[in-house]
Amino acid sequence: MSVTRKDRRLLFIGAGERADDWVPAFAAQAPDVPFIVYEDGMDVGAFRYAIIWRPNPPVVTQLSNLEVIFGMGAGVERLLGDPSIPDRIPIVRMVEPGLTGGMVEYVLWQTIYHHRRIWELEEAQREARWVNQYYPAPWERQIGILGLGQLGSAAARLLVEYGFKVKGWSRSRKSVDEVKSFAGAEELPQFLEGVEILVCLLPLTADTQGIINAGVFNQLPMGSILINAARGGHLNEADLLQALGSGRLAAATLDVFHVEPLPEGHPFWLHPRIFMTPHNASLTHPATAAIEIKRQIERHESGLPLEHVADRNRGY
Ligand SMILES: NC(=O)c1ccc[n+]([C@@H]2O[C@H](COP(=O)([O-])OP(=O)(O)OC[C@H]3O[C@@H](n4cnc5c(N)ncnc54)[C@H](OP(=O)(O)O)[C@@H]3O)[C@@H](O)[C@H]2O)c1
Repeated sequence: MSVTRKDRRLLFIGAGERADDWVPAFAAQAPDVPFIVYEDGMDVGAFRYAIIWRPNPPVVTQLSNLEVIFGMGAGVERLLGDPSIPDRIPIVRMVEPGLTGGMVEYVLWQTIYHHRRIWELEEAQREARWVNQYYPAPWERQIGILGLGQLGSAAARLLVEYGFKVKGWSRSRKSVDEVKSFAGAEELPQFLEGVEILVCLLPLTADTQGIINAGVFNQLPMGSILINAARGGHLNEADLLQALGSGRLAAATLDVFHVEPLPEGHPFWLHPRIFMTPHNASLTHPATAAIEIKRQIERHESGLPLEHVADRNRGY
């Protein structure tokens, strides 16, 4: 039986996310995948594909013919933790060039911001103060990336190209040109040794929850930097404040937080050495995501395995 355009309809289940950019992106890039925005009371029984950022249990339980869930982002911990999603339905993580490019740009931007201590210059200018500032060459600067997956390895490659010394940590050993790979909990101390700028690009799982804590900070050289662009749950916030207070860390860039939006009065807001972005280090780009989803639907229809399917046992 041939597949019709109707069979390929993709149901967008949002929770406050805007669909405005997605509808025209699918119309232009994947016209044979109709992008349908969920509305209350809609009969969703026939949909085979859905795209979801935050789960919405009442809708999910009505999707009796669902075959694939596409996560709108790379991190799918909320979808994996939703008991209303049956285990038989594969959850595909978002891996698309727009999202990867955005993260690589963010990591390079923040690495250079700290490598050149641009915040020191900004502070001096505000005070109309001339400073004599010195900094090492990139090849004298050790960067460490926690999580050497899609995003971490792409960021590592660019930092290497830029001239930085880069090492990475993952569960399994990796082979990325000129990036020293460390694997597993037993190699974490060796990985941390000498890391001056620590970048977190791990998924949030039972094993990585709270992983950036005093134990990790104390293994870094004095005056190190943290860049967390993964999830707020990776970071022990009290330990960060203490490490900044003691000088173990000189500064931190945070894109993600335990509670988002960051609550009013939170000590991070006015901390002079915490630089924040509002969980937009990288965004899924509808145009490139539409091309990727169409590609995956075509694979699925022709009997090929889906790619980037989250592993329920690993939690990412
Ligand atoms: N702030 C933002 O705007 C934003 C945007 C996109 C994504 N993110 C975050 O970035 C995360 C990473 O995305 P991705 O696409 O790069 O994921 P990925 O391809 O699945 O990579 C995850 C990496 O972490 C490693 N890892 C997982 N658990 C580990 C553990 N217990 N110990 C050591 N290493 C471990 C994996 O090791 P193996 O390779 O050995 O499996 C892999 O190298 C997402 O989960 C999301 O939370 C944030």
